[in-house]
Parts: sequence; structure tokens; C-alpha cells
Amino acid sequence: MDLERLLADRLAPAFAAVAGGPVDPAVRRSQHADFQSDAALGLARRLGRPPREIAAEVRERASLADVCAAVEVSGPGFLNLTVAGHALGGLVSALAADPRLGVPVVAEPETVVVDYSGPNVAKEMHVGHLRSTVIGDAAARTLEWLGHRVLRANHLGDWGTPFGMLIEHLLDLGEAGAAQELSMGDLDGFYRAARAKFDDDPAFQERSRQRVVALQGGDPATLRLWRLLVTQSESYFLTVYDLLDVTLTGDDFRGESSYHDQLAPTVEELDRLGLLRRSDGADCVFPPGSVGRDGEPLPLIVRKSDGGYGYPATDLAALRHRTGALGATRLLYVVGLPQRRHFEMVFAVGAQAGWLAAPVRAEHVGFGSILGPDGRMLRSRAGGSVKLVGLLTEAVQRATALARERNPELGVAEAAAVGRAVGIGAVLYADLSGDRHKDYVLDWERMLSLDGNTAPYLQYAYSRVRSIFRRAGAAARPDAEVSLAEPAERALAMELVGFAAVVEEVAGSLEFHRLTAYLHRLAVAFSAFYERCPVLRAEGPVRESRLVLCELTGQVLRQGLDLLGIRTPERL
Ligand code: ARG
Repeated sequence: MDLERLLADRLAPAFAAVAGGPVDPAVRRSQHADFQSDAALGLARRLGRPPREIAAEVRERASLADVCAAVEVSGPGFLNLTVAGHALGGLVSALAADPRLGVPVVAEPETVVVDYSGPNVAKEMHVGHLRSTVIGDAAARTLEWLGHRVLRANHLGDWGTPFGMLIEHLLDLGEAGAAQELSMGDLDGFYRAARAKFDDDPAFQERSRQRVVALQGGDPATLRLWRLLVTQSESYFLTVYDLLDVTLTGDDFRGESSYHDQLAPTVEELDRLGLLRRSDGADCVFPPGSVGRDGEPLPLIVRKSDGGYGYPATDLAALRHRTGALGATRLLYVVGLPQRRHFEMVFAVGAQAGWLAAPVRAEHVGFGSILGPDGRMLRSRAGGSVKLVGLLTEAVQRATALARERNPELGVAEAAAVGRAVGIGAVLYADLSGDRHKDYVLDWERMLSLDGNTAPYLQYAYSRVRSIFRRAGAAARPDAEVSLAEPAERALAMELVGFAAVVEEVAGSLEFHRLTAYLHRLAVAFSAFYERCPVLRAEGPVRESRLVLCELTGQVLRQGLDLLGIRTPERL
């Protein structure tokens, strides 16, 4: 159990007795003591009593003797709580004996769909897809570790009118030639060439139109060519996932095309519910509360005037499928903030249709852009969108070079492994360590720096822990008694027991920068501890106790980074 909750549990009955009803003790970390409770302030007006008097009475009534070394009334009526060293030591010992590091499996597992990555067939993945992939994978890993049933859904853009021109271009190149180009990852070149012909050549345009009709009509020859485009792109995306170390696999592709058969039934159901309105020849739903700049109602177009279905209809069908057939109770959409309005409207229509009703909820896990060093949207030197593989390869190369420079003893293979773990880790961490709603600047120097809130700093802290045990020649004894005489030991222990609360918070908010900030604090506390408190040179029970602190620090760092998809090499 984490300390905040333990203290709240002890204070709650005392507050209830004073207030004559349940009160949230509002316990949080404090700068003046370990924790503080502010609840007396809120109660004062209700009870018509001075807050300090209430706090003093709670202090008398609460049974805190075995947990706290000091409980003081301070300021206008705070209760300052200082945790007793033996109580903290006991909690650390309990963590050391728990393979889950104090983080329990949830009592009520949910089925959660995580919709992430979602690149488009025959188009280069852009940095927005990178962010979606990184954040979505951290969400999937975290929720899975907590015991939820996670369904990964890679909502591939694999359907729609552009496929007419893409298939015709494929035929012009010849199947083998096209496959070659696509498998090399030159997706943008392929797409641009098709587009250029479409714009310049009326005959090509006409062929493309007919091809769309054939595709939507299910013509077998056309479907085979379409499949070719999709599989080539999929295998390219899988190489990117592999490079990124994400858990997405070939089984997670749930392209737009997979909802094709559900589009008509979905729209029919909206019609039966009386939600459809005709507007400019298209079938629309006007969800309540959705208005444009001038206050005019904004529609979600579910069937276009030519009878075709687009992106919004597909998302409605997917939502209906996920909450219906899949029985999911939590839907996450890890997609850039520019699509915020789209998801607001899809969720609103889903609610109107009854597909999205409590306890089921949908969340747009939005994020900002990645900016270049000039503070503008990241572009390649040629001005086009940056190729993801190029970006990731650069990260690995830079990190490998740094690893060689710093540690010439690393063999070539080990340096390459370290370079990969650190380079990719740095990219993931840079993405996850800022508030995801904001843009962030891609800055190699900072990302790969060994100090500061970076992956290499945390990986380095982990490797230091491992090196202690290599030198000790033995593991920590999990049953060793933990004593916390030194302030630096105490500070480290305080961080260690806070892991569970952070993971729990992040599973709800999906704000991974809170987890990275925690891991960074932990690594800083470890570093201070390691500077001040000799471990291997200590003797007897002090050495045993410190080894437990080291071991736990290593485990929490590894588990925490693993939730983010970041590897922890044994040595850097
Ligand atoms: N393919 C889309 C894009 O590139 C992202 C898909 C996001 N997921 C969804 N269910 N709409 O913008």
C-alpha cells in the first residue's frame, strides 16, 4: 500500500468522528514534512469552528503512533505528518518481497481498445504517427501490466478514393517494380508519382475513377491488387515497429477496410434512431453542442452525396463494433490534436445512438506536434516530411558513437546493442517526458544527454545499480531488514514507496510525463544516496539494508521504463 493511502486510511475515521460524516483527508506530499492533510480547512466553515482546533482534535483521535514520528498542526490548520523511519523501512521491505513492486493487479479488469499508430497505406508514416505509436504503446503496456485486457487496434488508412489512382499506378509500374519500390519504404515517392499522373493525365484520371468503382464493387482482380499495396505497406510499417521496439504486431492491423461491411448497417441504425438529416445531398448527424465559429450547427457526414462513406462513418462503425461485439468499456484514440473535433463529434453521435453509454467511455488521447530545432514543424532538408526510419537510424547511430566514445571497452556487438537501446530509448523518452498536449522540439543533444530528464540518464542509473551487484558478487537478500538512518536513504525510500500511486494515476490520465518525472526523481534520489552512503564498503546489516535499496531502485527503474517501452541494458 502506498503511504498516502495508508495515512488517509488512518486519518479518515478521526475526521469522520469530528465532522459527523465521511471526509476525504486530502493527504499529499509536503515541503514542510513528508505529507500534509488540508482537510481541516475545508471543514472549518461547515462546522463553524476554527480550522486549527479541528486539526488538533483530529490529531488527538487519529491512531498514527505506529506510522508517524511526528504529527503537527501548522499554519492556518494543516496537519503535517512525518513518517517514522521504521514504518518506512517496513514498507520498503514489503516492496522488496513483492514481485509487483507494490502495484497490485486491478480488481476489476476492463476490456480496453487502444487505437494507435494508424498510418496510411502507400504513404510515409509521419512524425504524428510516431507520436501515436509511442504514446499508444506505453498506454497498452501500462494497462496490460495492471491486468486489463488490451486490444490493440491499428486503424490503418487502407480504403477510399486514392486507391483508384494507386492501383492504376501500380499497374503502370508492373507488380514486381511496384512491390520493390514499396518494400524499400519509398512510399511517398510512389504516392506522389500517382498523384502527379492523376493531376496531369485525364485518361489516367478516368481509369482511376473506374478502379474505385471496381474496388468498392468487390471486383476480385482489383481487390488482389489492392491487397498487394496493403501487404507491402504493412510489412514496411512492421519494420518501423520493430525498430521502435513497440508491441504492435501484424495481428493488430484493423484497417478502415475491415469495417466496410458494417458501414451500411451502422448508417441504417442511425436512420432508424431518427438521427439522420439530409444536408446538401449528404446524410448527416448534427450532434448537440457541435457548432461552428459562427454558432451554426456542424454536421458529421456519414454518407456522402455520391453514396460513399468516409472517415467519419468508418469511425462510427468502429466505435459501434468496439463497444458492441468486442465488449470494450474503455476506448482510447491516440491521435494528434488536430483531429479533436472529429472525435468529439464521433463520440457525441455514439452517445446519441446509445453505443457509448456509461460505464463505457471513449477518450481522445491527443498530442501536439514534433518541431525541428527552428521551432517549426519537423521537415527534411528537402522540405518534405521527415522519414521515420531515417530519424530512428540517426538516433541509433548517434547513440552508438557516444557509447563507443565513452566506453571503449564495449565490443562492437555490445556497443551496437547499447546504441540501439539508448538511441531508441532517447526518442521514446523525449516523446513521453513532456506534457503530450504540447509540441516538443527534437533536440539530439538534449535527448542523448547523460544528465537531465532523459532516457540515457535513467538507463545509466540502472546500469550503475547492476554494476554494484556485479561487484558485490551477490544479490540483495530480500528479507534483510531495511534501516533508514541517513537522510539520503530516507529520501530514496520515500520515492520507492511512491511508485504504485504514480502508475495508478498514469493509467487513468495517460499523462506519461508524470511517470518519467517520477523515474527521474527516483534516479536523482538514488544518485544522492549513492554519493553519500557507501554500499559495498559498509558492513553487516547496514550493507544488507543498502543493497535492498539498490536492488529495489533497479527494479523500479526497469519496470517503469518497461511500461514506456524503453530497454535497460545491464551496462552502458
Ligand atoms: N489514418 C489516420 C491518419 O493518418 C489516423 C487514424 C486514427 N484512428 C482513428 N480511429 N481515426 O490521420
